[in-house]
Amino acid sequence: MNSPVTGAPSDVGTGHEARDRSANRGPSPVLPPASHSTQERIPTVVVEEHEDIARLVAGRIAQLIRSRAAQGRTAVLGLATGSTPIGVYRELIRMHREEGLSFANVVTFNLDEYYPMKPDNMHSYHRFMQENLFSSVDVPAHQVHIPRGDVPRELVDSECAAYEAAIRAAGGIDFQLLGVGKTGHIGFNEPGSGVDSRTRLVHLDAVTRRDAAADFFGEEFVPKEAVTMGVATILEAREIAIIATGEHKSAIVRRAVEGDINVEIAATFLQRHPATTFYLDSSAGADLTRIATPWLLDEVHWTPDLMLRAVVWLSLQTGRAILKLTQRDYAEHGMSSLVAQRGSPGAVNGEVFNALGAKIRGKSKLPTGKRTIVFSPHPDDDVISMGGILRKFVQNDNRMIVAYMTSGNIAVFDHDVRRYVDFLRRLAHERDVADGTVDRFATLVNDFLDSKQPGDVDIDEVADIKRIIRESEAVAGIEVMGLTRDDARFLNLPFYQTGKVKKDPIGPADVAIVRALLEEFQPEIIFVAGDLSDPHGTHRMCKEAIDRAVLELYGPRPSADSRSAEPHRRATDRVQETGAPQRPEVWLYRGAWQEWAVTDATWLVPMSQEELRLKIQAIFKHQSQKDSAPFPGQDDREFWQRVDARNKDTAALLDRLGLAEYFAMEAYVVE
Ligand code: F6R
Repeated sequence: MNSPVTGAPSDVGTGHEARDRSANRGPSPVLPPASHSTQERIPTVVVEEHEDIARLVAGRIAQLIRSRAAQGRTAVLGLATGSTPIGVYRELIRMHREEGLSFANVVTFNLDEYYPMKPDNMHSYHRFMQENLFSSVDVPAHQVHIPRGDVPRELVDSECAAYEAAIRAAGGIDFQLLGVGKTGHIGFNEPGSGVDSRTRLVHLDAVTRRDAAADFFGEEFVPKEAVTMGVATILEAREIAIIATGEHKSAIVRRAVEGDINVEIAATFLQRHPATTFYLDSSAGADLTRIATPWLLDEVHWTPDLMLRAVVWLSLQTGRAILKLTQRDYAEHGMSSLVAQRGSPGAVNGEVFNALGAKIRGKSKLPTGKRTIVFSPHPDDDVISMGGILRKFVQNDNRMIVAYMTSGNIAVFDHDVRRYVDFLRRLAHERDVADGTVDRFATLVNDFLDSKQPGDVDIDEVADIKRIIRESEAVAGIEVMGLTRDDARFLNLPFYQTGKVKKDPIGPADVAIVRALLEEFQPEIIFVAGDLSDPHGTHRMCKEAIDRAVLELYGPRPSADSRSAEPHRRATDRVQETGAPQRPEVWLYRGAWQEWAVTDATWLVPMSQEELRLKIQAIFKHQSQKDSAPFPGQDDREFWQRVDARNKDTAALLDRLGLAEYFAMEAYVVE
């Protein structure tokens, strides 16, 4: 039997120990872990990439399972669903296959399940766990526990009590894995869940339902309730790892880690737990004080990057243009050491002002005559995210192609398919080209749509119509920019072709397609969506396909050291000398959801009112995504409205900092 719920057994460490152990094993934290000078109330580890978290957390779980197995005891795991823990489960499966990690002694309790929900439903967490972990490891079925979403309402309370009893009977949870929702929920403990709450039926918050809307093919299909372990149930776990990735989590992470305990944000209760570690990738950790504004905590080493960030922050904080910042402003905001180092406020102001100004690249300062590929994850990211620079590149006689990586077909409404089929049928009849083929096709499509249930995968005919709708919109979009249909390539990467929101992992076939295009076109510049928080991860996956193809073709990127050792020679020049294919420069743009911070951007590209208008006209060509896109994320605005606001905001920000007043502006990071 396991040890009692309270008191940590010898092989279960505190959060701090877990952090130290894991830091030795793998990637190093971006910044030193929490020290006396941070404001963090939960020990927090920030690593570069989300894969690093998977390795750290899976490593810790494996260690626990093995040490328990060696003692002939069980390891009781509390498990989570959602997008965040999938990497941890993949890594555990890999360890099972390649390192012989056995789950025979593992007992699991999942946090939650939607209600009502049948276990075999595609949205059920029973099915999620089967697909993402259990079916690939040797955990005995009778040792797996997941709250049931299919019991009659009058039995839910007793079922919940039985769940709690089962956890106790197993000896309590040794290691609890958690994600965090944008509401700050852990499990489905939505705002208002008390510290004493136990496993129970709860109402889902509107934000949570909205986040799940895409997976359910519409918010109206997301269940309104769920069964979840309570906050008290979770806090009784001996060790907790809570993980968050992506910039869309950075605000709630900061609130949970640095803010006061508050019943409106269940994750803050973890501050009371003696052995919790928060694992973050650099995007999710970006708002933590030690990363966003470290000079407020301690003495810092002033690098040019940090100076830029700090002075921009100070300017916004004080409402004073950079060139007007005074000694007093610096002193009052923990930045006197910067002034001391550079000699005077004027010197700091001038250096930062010039550094920002040097980022601004109008048409005359942008490349000319370069072979350029724009990689667009979906058939509208090109114009939404980089319509301004695209036009300028065309005007500068760069040789451009736009490579659409996926068809984006799942984001086309069924009613648009009906409309196009009706159009086809009418045209065929009126122009007398109908020999019955078009009618039969239309009937097939309409019959399918009549019988289609939410979540059903489209038949090939419908998927093809949706793809073609988006392809023709993409061509219309780039024509506005001055390109032609011959400049569009539709890659249709296989990973996307599941017909569902959930995609396959990037595989060799995806990489081969990207690689073939690079080989054929031999670009000098490629534009890549470097946006890491799109709701379904498609942008991230497309970037992975490109990164892998680039690696295969050109080898690893020269390190920063070797680049700075040869400041006057670009990487491209060096590989050219060796006869290897020329490595293109990678220009990262952001997707529809965020823009690069002006401090992170390499280039800021101004747009006039006419240029912004042209860009918006190109976005309008994507009619299937207008008015209301099927997957808008948490933002109600149409894509063109977001673009309008975001590009004007970037320009307005430079204005506030005291630089020139532009109408609108896009931002790019050159890798
Ligand atoms: C899932 C669960 C939730 C999720 C949270 C984050 O079992 O209990 O608390 O962990 O909603 O979800 P993702 O990881 O999809 O962002």
